[in-house]
Amino acid sequence: MPAADCPEGNYGAFLMDNMPLIRSLVEKLACNLQVPVSCKIRIFPDLQDTIAYARMLEEAGCSLLAVHGRTRDEKDGRKFRADWDAIREVKKSVRIPVLANGNIRHMEDVHSCLEHTGADGVLSAETLLENPALFAGFRTAEWRDCGNLDESKNGEDGGLDQADLLEEYLKLCEQYPVPWRIVRSHVHKMLGDWFKVHPEVREEFNRQSKLTFEWLHDMVGKLRNLGGRVPLYANATSTWKATENGFPMSSS
Ligand SMILES: Cc1cc2nc3c(=O)[nH]c(=O)nc-3n(C[C@H](O)[C@H](O)[C@H](O)COP(=O)(O)O)c2cc1C
Repeated sequence: MPAADCPEGNYGAFLMDNMPLIRSLVEKLACNLQVPVSCKIRIFPDLQDTIAYARMLEEAGCSLLAVHGRTRDEKDGRKFRADWDAIREVKKSVRIPVLANGNIRHMEDVHSCLEHTGADGVLSAETLLENPALFAGFRTAEWRDCGNLDESKNGEDGGLDQADLLEEYLKLCEQYPVPWRIVRSHVHKMLGDWFKVHPEVREEFNRQSKLTFEWLHDMVGKLRNLGGRVPLYANATSTWKATENGFPMSSS
């Protein structure tokens, strides 16, 4: 079920006001499609309502349920912690696989979320925008000291940084074109920490009304020459390590 901010369109989380309509949509899809139907929901303020919602979806034919542990009014992910207790109760109430969503910022969160909720998997969104290497075991400086890891194993330079990830992303964009406004916002997300160190480069970037891949690769080179590298951190015992080309590979 798509984005939360579409009241007049009667879709996204605003469908939560109309359970019979959701039921009929899922039933129709499940009856007529050859592929399994998955749903993604937000929680209600009342746990029993959330459980009833999840059970209704299961009955209607949903085969996989992702639960974002925030209500539809809790829009700011940094302000509102996702309710992992509610996700755990949903997981206990249905037989279909459940994916937990909300507050996954690094692999430590993945493990604690799976343990806490009993979910079958996790989803992450906001953090991936700035750190697409999250599931390979890397974390940004912001989350370096967060979690219960043994300090000696926590926060070592993982040999990878956000500029490496951006370069990989740019190569993919050349291969699979996307609108420049999307590229622009990903550059801001991935280079945000570097731009804080060198705001003049950000200003120059913002002044470019027309971008090219060549210009962007040059900008990354310029940032590297200016120094102040902001690494991504990895746990030394992580099963994932960066290779020379920046792609992660299993070390075990
Ligand atoms: C760029 C972006 C696009 C998103 N698009 C959708 C969407 O189309 N449908 C949806 O249900 N949720 C969408 N979300 C919400 C996320 O799937 C997720 O539920 C939410 O961000 C909470 O997870 P997080 O705490 O890991 O960010 C989007 C989030 C982001 C950052």
